[in-house]
Amino acid sequence: MKVLVAGANGQVGQHIVRLLAEAGHEVRALIRSEDQAPEMRNLGGEPMVADLEAEVSHTVAGCEAVIFSAGGGPGSGAEKKETIDRQGAVKLIEAAKEHGANRYLMVSAMGAADPESGPEKMQPYLHAKARADQALKESGLDYTIVRPGSLTDETGTGKVEAAASLGRRGEIPREDVARALVAVLTAENTHGKTFELLSGDTPVERAIANL
Ligand SMILES: NC(=O)c1ccc[n+]([C@@H]2O[C@H](COP(=O)([O-])OP(=O)(O)OC[C@H]3O[C@@H](n4cnc5c(N)ncnc54)[C@H](OP(=O)(O)O)[C@@H]3O)[C@@H](O)[C@H]2O)c1
Repeated sequence: MKVLVAGANGQVGQHIVRLLAEAGHEVRALIRSEDQAPEMRNLGGEPMVADLEAEVSHTVAGCEAVIFSAGGGPGSGAEKKETIDRQGAVKLIEAAKEHGANRYLMVSAMGAADPESGPEKMQPYLHAKARADQALKESGLDYTIVRPGSLTDETGTGKVEAAASLGRRGEIPREDVARALVAVLTAENTHGKTFELLSGDTPVERAIANL
């Protein structure tokens, strides 16, 4: 499948690019700077420079799927949550519809299910994520919304726990989030689903197949 990865140079994004390429997918890696292009090629992606705060519709042309893993990052303020986490995701939803890229995977966050219950300082982020998720649900695209817990840089174990609601908070290595996304991409049972994701005891492919 030809897949656009938004946030390809990010900590999750780099794993996504590498694992998609290893799985035989064609990867268009959306990056912000030409300096990041050699690393994208090393990982197996074809870089394309574009800014989510500007015009990005053309980046989806020719792709069959979009994975949105971009974000303003923990150091950014409410304005970036709005322009990148929400508006950036929505721009690519509109572009996916325009260009016939029917598959869209969103890297959301666990607390987006109920932003009000999150900590005060997380509110702009969780609301931005929740609104982006809602726009995707209403898009008519074959979507899957993945809501991981707190991300770590540990090496992935390949084992996770996934369900619509896990009823607990926790952590998961970024590499395992990327593995789950690669499995989700071609898993038709996940179309139209939203699920939470944490480290667990079940091999990724089986956890995704069981959703
Ligand atoms: N941290 C957590 O515990 C947690 C938990 C659940 C979900 N998440 C979500 O998981 C996703 C991936 O997280 P991560 O750790 O990989 O984040 P990350 O390392 O901060 O990656 C975010 C990526 O977005 C890119 N980006 C930012 N602004 C952009 C713009 N205007 N145009 C194009 N690209 C832009 C960044 O580009 P540069 O590389 O150029 O900076 C970066 O590559 C995010 O959506 C995050 O909100 C995080």
